[in-house]
Amino acid sequence: MDKYEKLEKVGEGTYGKVYKAKDKSSGQLVALKKTRLEMDEEGVPPTALREVALLQMLSQSLYLVRLLCVEHVDNKKNGKPLLYLVFEYLDTDLKKFIDSHRKSIPPSSLPPTLIQSFLYQLCKGVSHCHSHSVLHRDLKPQNLLVDKDKGLLKIADLGLGRAFTVPLKSYTHEIVTLWYRAPEVLLGTTHYSTAVDMWSVGCIFAEMVRRQALFPGDSELQQLLHIFRLLGTPTEDQWPGVSSLRDWHEYPQWKPQNLARAVPNLEPEGVDLLSKMLQYDPSNRISAKAALDHPYFDSLDKSQY
Ligand SMILES: Nc1ncnc2c1ncn2[C@@H]1O[C@H](COP(=O)(O)OP(=O)(O)O)[C@@H](O)[C@H]1O
Ligand SMILES: [Mg+2]
Repeated sequence: MDKYEKLEKVGEGTYGKVYKAKDKSSGQLVALKKTRLEMDEEGVPPTALREVALLQMLSQSLYLVRLLCVEHVDNKKNGKPLLYLVFEYLDTDLKKFIDSHRKSIPPSSLPPTLIQSFLYQLCKGVSHCHSHSVLHRDLKPQNLLVDKDKGLLKIADLGLGRAFTVPLKSYTHEIVTLWYRAPEVLLGTTHYSTAVDMWSVGCIFAEMVRRQALFPGDSELQQLLHIFRLLGTPTEDQWPGVSSLRDWHEYPQWKPQNLARAVPNLEPEGVDLLSKMLQYDPSNRISAKAALDHPYFDSLDKSQY
């Protein structure tokens, strides 16, 4: 790691700390992320190698944070070498970016054209992952990195070591957010599909418009109730099989509210796209690829993407 000059800590996520650092020879800024992938006597476990290779292949997309290289580092504490992932550095994440607009004096909204552009880039990145049969499964503003000056948004924190479940608590015991979790996941579906990511994309879209979370639940039940209060309690007609899901119970019966009222100032085409991302039945939810062709993006200059 002598190649890098460690600068400040930029983030602390689900699995560990992320540092800003400078590549001494090129001067390039990078993000160093320690992985949980510990090596044993046999070297790097093959599952870890496969994941890193997949990540490196996927991150060739402009809409994913580029994995530049992987470094083996000797761990002084227990002698087991660790893997560090070296990523391109971006100046902020979408959570910090939205917060800075909300907390500025006076508070400012995100320009509608920027929301449109960010959502387009997000759908491009998600479509790229899905076309390689990779689900992200933890899309949220903290996992989307932003280059403010260039107006770029890139997906980060792709499923490494998250092969089976997203942990409920982070390594610092911080509660992992449920706000972007799809209803079928909350209801205990055993069959995950690409639609789980599109639900998260819808929640993120609404949050860029509102500058606050659409469904800020603090437990799995509260999370579902937030969703049901806005979109109505789902019915078998709308979502065949819902009442057979593992964690389904009887819930209060709410009628759907007007979605447009939850996203003030979002143009009608935007509300229509949002409603297609927030469909209850995963098989009715719009795909990332189809979202890219939605009329909401008609006014965007697509030639620059
Ligand atoms: N390439 C990067 N450039 C700048 N900041 C980053 C970068 N990668 C991660 N971060 C910051 O660190 C935080 C945690 O990183 P992340 O990859 O999401 O790790 P975790 O798996 O621990 O959640 C992010 O929310 C972001 O603020
Ligand atoms: Mg993260």
